[in-house]
Amino acid sequence: HTRWPGLITAYADRVAIPAGAKVITLFEGGTPLLPAPALSEITGMQVYLKIEGANPTGSFKDRGMTVAVTHALANGAKAVICASTGNTSASAAAYAARAGITSAVLIPQGKIAAGKLAQAVAYGAKILQVQGNFDDCLELARKVVVDHPEIALVNSVNPVRIEGQKTASFEICDVLGRAPDVHLLPVGNAGNITAYWKGYKEYHADGLIDQLPRMFGFQAAGSAPLVLGHPVKNPQTLATAILIGSPASWTQAIDARDSSHGLIDAVTDDQILAAYRLLASREGVFVEPASAASVAGLLLTSGDGRLAPGSLVVCTVTGHGLKDPATALSTLTDPVVVPVDAGAVTEALGLQ
Ligand code: F0G
Repeated sequence: HTRWPGLITAYADRVAIPAGAKVITLFEGGTPLLPAPALSEITGMQVYLKIEGANPTGSFKDRGMTVAVTHALANGAKAVICASTGNTSASAAAYAARAGITSAVLIPQGKIAAGKLAQAVAYGAKILQVQGNFDDCLELARKVVVDHPEIALVNSVNPVRIEGQKTASFEICDVLGRAPDVHLLPVGNAGNITAYWKGYKEYHADGLIDQLPRMFGFQAAGSAPLVLGHPVKNPQTLATAILIGSPASWTQAIDARDSSHGLIDAVTDDQILAAYRLLASREGVFVEPASAASVAGLLLTSGDGRLAPGSLVVCTVTGHGLKDPATALSTLTDPVVVPVDAGAVTEALGLQ
C-alpha cells in the first residue's frame, strides 16, 4: 500500500496546475465507492454510493478547492472569496488556511447548516452573512473581484474548480473498470454535474471506458430552476446546500443532460428526507439532506421505470451528515433519560 497523495498528484496527467506551483492539498479525493445492498434490493439495480462526505472537510468541494487554491496561490492571490450555501465556504476556508492566505465567505444569513458555519469559524474565514440568498451572494462575490484582482473567486464559475471535481468520475471508472450505466447526483449551482460529465467524456475520449453513462440530476422541488426552465426568485427546501434559484452552470448542466440522454428532475423535501433516513438506517451512511437527493432520485426513477432494471448505477452522496445536526436531531422527539442504575438501563432497553 502506498498512501493516497491527493487528487492533483494522483491525476497529475489530467489535472493541470501552473508550472512550479506549490500543491495545496489535504489529501482529498480517493473516496470510497461503496456497494449499497439495501438500495440494490429495494430498487432492483446494482447500486454504488460515491461517499464524498469522506473528504477532508466533509464534502466534494475539496476536490475543486485543492486545485483552485493551488492556482490562486501560484498566481499571487492574497485572498480567496466565495459565495456559498455552506460547503464551498468550509472548503475554501480550510484550503486558504493551509495556503496561508485569507478567505472571505459570503453566506445567506440563517440559511446554512450549523456544522458548515462552525467549520468556517474554526478555519478562520472572514464570514459575511448576507441578507439575501445564495444567488445574491454569488453576484456580490463576482462584483468584488472585478475591482480586486488580488482576490481569487473560488466558486465553480472558476473553471479550475471543475478540473478538480471531474476526478470523481475517474475514480469511479478506475474502480469499476467501466462507467456506470447511470450516474445520479444532486444539482444546485450545477458545477458538479458539469464536472462529472467532463470527467467521463475525457476517459471516453482516451479509450479508458467504452461507454458514457447517462447523467441523472435532481433538484429540490421548491428550488428546481433547471426543471422548470426558468430561474426561481424565492427558492425553498430544507436541503439548504441546494437552495439555489439561478444556477451558474445552467447551460453546462443542460448539455450534460441532453448529450448523455439523461434527465434533470425534481424530488420533494419529503422524498429527500425519506432517502436521508433510509441511507443512514439501512446502509449506515449518514449524509446531509441535499446529498440524499440523488438517492431520492434513484427511488423515484427505479420506481417509475425510467431506470432499466438491473442497471449499474452510482449515486454521489455529496456531503457528510454531521454538517447538519439540526435536521438529524429534528426526529429525536422523545429522549429516554435514565438514572445511573443498571436496572433502569435494562428496563429501558426492554431486557430481562
Ligand atoms: N450537495 C451538496 C452537499 C452541496 O453542498 C452542493 C452545492 C450540491 C450538492 C450541489 O452541487 O452546486 O455543483 O450543483 N453546494 C454549493 C456550496 C452551492 O456553496 O457549498 P452543485
